[in-house]
Amino acid sequence: MINSKLPFILYGGDYNPDQWPQEIIEKDMHLLKLANINIVTLPVFSWALLQPDEDTYNFEWLDKIFDLLKQNNIYVCLATSTAAQPAWMSRKYPEMLPVDFHGSKRKHGGRVKFCPNSTKYRELSVKLATKLAERYKDYSNLAIWHVANEYDNYCYCGHCQEEFRQWLKNRYKTIDNLNNAWNMNFWGHTVYSWDEIVAPSALNEMWDGPSKTCTTFQGMALDYNRFMSDSILACYIGEYNAIKKTTPDIKITTNFMGAFKPLDYFKWAEYMDVISWDNYPSYGDSPSNVAMSHDLMRGLKSGDSFMLIEQSPSQANWQPYNSVKRPGEMKLQSYQALAHGADSVMFFQMRQSIGACEKYHAAVISHADSENTRIFKECAALGKELNALGDSIIDSKYNSKVGIIFDWDNWWAVEFSSGPSIELKYLPQIQKYYAGFHNKNIPVDFVKPNDDFSKYDIIIAPVLYMLKDNVADNIKNFVSKGGTFITTFFSGYVDENDRVKIGGYPSELRDLLGLWVEELDALPPEINNSIQMNGSLDNFDYEYKCNMLFDIINLEGATTLGTYGSDFYRGRPVFTCNKYGNGDAYYIASNPETKFVDDLVTYLDSKHSLSLSLGCDIQFGTEITKRVKNDKNIFFILNHNDKSITLNLKNKSFINLITNENITDDLLLNSRDVFILEEII
Ligand code: GLA
Ligand code: ZN
Repeated sequence: MINSKLPFILYGGDYNPDQWPQEIIEKDMHLLKLANINIVTLPVFSWALLQPDEDTYNFEWLDKIFDLLKQNNIYVCLATSTAAQPAWMSRKYPEMLPVDFHGSKRKHGGRVKFCPNSTKYRELSVKLATKLAERYKDYSNLAIWHVANEYDNYCYCGHCQEEFRQWLKNRYKTIDNLNNAWNMNFWGHTVYSWDEIVAPSALNEMWDGPSKTCTTFQGMALDYNRFMSDSILACYIGEYNAIKKTTPDIKITTNFMGAFKPLDYFKWAEYMDVISWDNYPSYGDSPSNVAMSHDLMRGLKSGDSFMLIEQSPSQANWQPYNSVKRPGEMKLQSYQALAHGADSVMFFQMRQSIGACEKYHAAVISHADSENTRIFKECAALGKELNALGDSIIDSKYNSKVGIIFDWDNWWAVEFSSGPSIELKYLPQIQKYYAGFHNKNIPVDFVKPNDDFSKYDIIIAPVLYMLKDNVADNIKNFVSKGGTFITTFFSGYVDENDRVKIGGYPSELRDLLGLWVEELDALPPEINNSIQMNGSLDNFDYEYKCNMLFDIINLEGATTLGTYGSDFYRGRPVFTCNKYGNGDAYYIASNPETKFVDDLVTYLDSKHSLSLSLGCDIQFGTEITKRVKNDKNIFFILNHNDKSITLNLKNKSFINLITNENITDDLLLNSRDVFILEEII
């Protein structure tokens, strides 16, 4: 539970009372109650107010707000305010200001613009966190801690370079090991001393390419990402440890950003008491991609409930087109988070600013300053419904039989790679396979390559380019015991330093897949080949388009399911299956059209009974998930379509957890309707 004393859905979000006079703050209490808000996050960006100079701290204003919230029975998600250092601090300690990828030293301004290895930043942020913990430890409305805000601050300064050398010494022990890991004899890069190592940036080994960051030395660039992710994590851990000493029972989090490339969130998750994340879908984003981010966040701590800690009540300000959320859309997105394992619904923000760049970002209380707005009313209505849910879904579990392997190192390595194609991106490949399952209402978990897969029927690893130690054995163990494994082109190429494993791709996966890859063709995206099925599997079409990458493979035991339809490798296998122990290992050697993935999922569903369709004929855009609590099945049914749908839940009985009514007839879902139904057994 997010807080064992609060067995209900936390509902509220960022509040910036430091931007408002007392009379507005008092009025806010009334409005927040009307909106059924039970928690606010503060003070996220108030370091300058809390500490006007190095020797002075000023908490009185915050005490008053804490008290007022307490009187109103509103809980506090206490932020440590360390995401934006005060101007005096940057001036006094200029080494705190970071150097960017292009070598420019930043001036003071913006936010999350500090060098993560700055000793002074770490010291002063820990000091502030300590003081906040000591001051507010006895407040009964302190619910949870929120450290800093949306960390993302890579730095390329001289101090970071020094620390990078230390980090490398710990990792490689000897300079020979490092030369070997990075393959430094290439282009005469051999180094003889740690001091010769230069942090990779746009000034040496890196540059901004047409669609990605490019590098001459993938091993070096990968290590810099790992080092930066670790350095930034160390800032969080410093505050975490300081807070824990004083308030050991209050959970600590920092707000993640979904599938966010720069930070290895799996590693970060080890230091989070609860995962929380900020969900800001743009106009037209597919529900499937949003669902995927929720599932990834749930996967970070092996399925524990997470927090939706920010979303907008309506529009944002920083997107290219800041569409307002249509009536019912905010509610639908909120329930989608709960449907995928969240135990909170929180917004940025409670009251809309009057100045600076977020003044046109929506808030529960808008510039109209009234409860009589559409957005306020929708927020209040949702708060009431969440209240009615009580603790019915809190800490419930999400049982999936399908796991998708996700790995930040692999993501970085695939996209640092020079060749085979600038079109190859990791996330879209994951999204494509995820969507195939999600669109059929098949629950999916995200797993690490070295996790125990025994509870899954199917493991999918799109573009598993980097095969770290023991991963091949882990997968083989899973398949030999009856599991189904699916992987694609550009898998099993390199070790964790991006060094190719010679002897034929996909190296240690060769015997599992029963094939080896001799060549990998890459063509412009508009050039298609085709997958021609040989009819051995049911419910597949005769032919599918494929593009981008085309493995030319030799079979070593695998069975051909489909062959290329054209080019000089026409007739060679493109889709195969290999029996391995009691299981099956599938290989997809090119980038297929979506319909192929859909048909593959239908085929797997027919073999493994994976879908939560409740015996109904489900239309596209009807999302169904299941959370399980105390052996009770709780179904979330969401209509993402613009039109209404009817579900005939013939053979089962349900109770509507919001209204407490039994469902006896067909279920009519108007556009954007949501039902949360407990199955009566
Ligand atoms: C992020 C931040 C918030 C706010 C919102 C606006 O999620 O964490 O402080 O800036 O964006 O959308
Ligand atoms: Zn730095």
